[in-house]
Amino acid sequence: MHKLFHKLFPPVLAALLLAAGLTSANAATSTASKPVPDEDGYNLWLRYQPLAPAAQARLKAQARSIVLTTPITPTTTAAVAELQRGVAGMAGIDAPAQTATIADGALVLGTAATLPGLDSTLKTELAKLGNEGYLLRAARLQGRPVTLIAANTDIGLLYGAFAWLRATAGGTAPEASSAPKLQLRLLNHWDNLDRHVERGYAGASIWDWWALPEITDSRYTDYARANASLGINGTVLNNVNSKPEVLTPAYIAKAAAVADVLRPYGIKVFLSARFSTPLELKQTDTADPLSPAVQTWWKNKADEIYRAIPDFGGFLVKANSEGQPGPQDYHRSHADGANMLAAALAPHHGIVMWRAFVYAPQAGKETDRARQAFEEFKPLDGKFASNVLVQVKNGAIDFQPREPFHPLFGAMPNTPLMMEFQITKEYLGFSTDIAYLGTMFEEVLESDTMQQGQGKGPTVAQVIEGSHTLDGKPPLTGMAGVANIGVDRNWTGHHFDQANWYAFGRLAWNPQASARAIAVEWAAQSFGNDARVIGPVVDMLMRSRETVVDYMTPLGLHHIMGTAHHHGPAPWVNDLERPDWNPVYYHRAARDGIGFDRTASGTNALEQYAPALARLYADPRTTPEKYLLWFHHLPWTYAMPSGRTLWAEIIDHYDRGVAGARDLQSRWDALRGVVDARRHAEVAQRLRRQVQNAELWRNACIAYFQSVSGLPLPNGVTPPPQPLEYYKAIHFPYAPGRG
Ligand code: GCU
Repeated sequence: MHKLFHKLFPPVLAALLLAAGLTSANAATSTASKPVPDEDGYNLWLRYQPLAPAAQARLKAQARSIVLTTPITPTTTAAVAELQRGVAGMAGIDAPAQTATIADGALVLGTAATLPGLDSTLKTELAKLGNEGYLLRAARLQGRPVTLIAANTDIGLLYGAFAWLRATAGGTAPEASSAPKLQLRLLNHWDNLDRHVERGYAGASIWDWWALPEITDSRYTDYARANASLGINGTVLNNVNSKPEVLTPAYIAKAAAVADVLRPYGIKVFLSARFSTPLELKQTDTADPLSPAVQTWWKNKADEIYRAIPDFGGFLVKANSEGQPGPQDYHRSHADGANMLAAALAPHHGIVMWRAFVYAPQAGKETDRARQAFEEFKPLDGKFASNVLVQVKNGAIDFQPREPFHPLFGAMPNTPLMMEFQITKEYLGFSTDIAYLGTMFEEVLESDTMQQGQGKGPTVAQVIEGSHTLDGKPPLTGMAGVANIGVDRNWTGHHFDQANWYAFGRLAWNPQASARAIAVEWAAQSFGNDARVIGPVVDMLMRSRETVVDYMTPLGLHHIMGTAHHHGPAPWVNDLERPDWNPVYYHRAARDGIGFDRTASGTNALEQYAPALARLYADPRTTPEKYLLWFHHLPWTYAMPSGRTLWAEIIDHYDRGVAGARDLQSRWDALRGVVDARRHAEVAQRLRRQVQNAELWRNACIAYFQSVSGLPLPNGVTPPPQPLEYYKAIHFPYAPGRG
């Protein structure tokens, strides 16, 4: 137990407080016999709770002191402070920090140059780890047994410190060495300057633009710690639907204040830039990227930003999409627009992340929205400046519960493509439903693009790792995640949504990591290294996303949710201004069948994939069942491999979804008393909502599709308890997170 705790409370009183669950989380023990103290989730996976006695003894022997052999800098100070915090919490000792004496049992941080007598094999290994990698090892230095945290830079040391703490808290052997596979590992905040978070379900934005720059919240430091613990090294502070004001001097000063807090943790600040900013600020009379006045404006603006934020990362841009301005307004291409901004940033080593999420109404044309990004971007392959990345959503529509990977991956070998995932659950039940996205991210990343033939890759992960560029030069690489963070005490609204932030960060470090292994790590750190909890929590996580797909959009259905807020079922909606906003456009259910024909007999979006994949998916029999209705329009009576008709199969999935939600609930109920009461109750409440949500989806979709198919329900199927009109009349006027 922590010394301070003993100083403050004599042992008998301490025992009483513990029994009453009245002590702070940090001071309590987690042995089975004692009630588990309440937690509010604020500490995320960095809880540093006391370990079991044997693990504590091991930890004490490894961290008798913390020795920093490199200069004291803000980053190495953060690393040492984090280690002290972790060791104090997990082992109850105050490990003294030193810069000189290497004693037995020290935890020693340093580089090849500063670690005295480091053996040459370790030096060689270290040399391969680049600027951000680290090496963790039990070793001898000056003849003394120590634990090494070695790296080539300060930030490598900080990452190494977090990795060592992660392994210690999770009871696993530390990774011997690790280096990130992607250069840019970024959160994208869709946070507006008035603190409304577009598609945010965890309260207001953590960025208090009004209070900045004079007043910074201590949360910013904890945000930086949490992100650095995963290796996230950049953050875009504002919404892609950006405002010109963000590039005015007042807001640049505010962003600079945030950058100052994040800098020691290796996190660079980026901003979303609105393409028409100079025009809207009335400082130019056009936003045409080929206008010299516009080019000069952006150049001066970049210079101004870098004076305030010397390590500013660059711009994220949403252009000519959903009403946002862009170069096409001047009949210029995306490359013209991106390259103009890139030229302004290049002298400062800044970058542009140009989004490929583009779709605009194409007057009088009945098109397939899934085709549009490819049609606009593929011809521009190789035409972007070297400091531009094209940021591509995982799928061609919009962060659906399931989408096949975006056809641009693998199709632009001369352009660095970065992945855009959505961590916030716009389409997967907000922050009320459990849906672990680790499995979804993994499914996308391990997809075979078949550009070199079936089974021959590259996978999407390999594409974004840049290992398959035509010229063989290592390009810029990156992954972005639309953040699910707000000012809710536990940051993410649902305690389980912390796992999605966590999984994103770990996969951005290594896109080939296993979603299950990540779930185990998260569970062990978030709920304690106790098999009674880890097993069930990991099971819940691993089955959760498929459950959500089953009760929302099984078998490749997509975009059939409520208008604007995107909550709840609304497959009947057919009256929106643009055809490709309507659910009926996507499911195409009619008397003859259901599904979107994207083969040659339909929109032929399939042709945008590599020939091997396109051939495979052209036939419903060789299309993976999970994508069936994404690519094919099939009769309700179509015979599925299960022996059921398609109609019966759809219903079976909806029923499975409801059963899955109830199953999550009963697994969680079984953890009452093992997980602290507060978090248990908070998750249990949300699971009750999740079951209701699953039932609503199931009943509404079955009622609607039956009204279209005209078919009876298969034997044994429970009819929806209400008529279709009842479900149609349900509205969610104040649903959070609207755009
Ligand atoms: C979705 C989302 C919008 C968002 C857009 C984007 O359409 O609903 O809120 O602005 O994606 O990614 O730009």
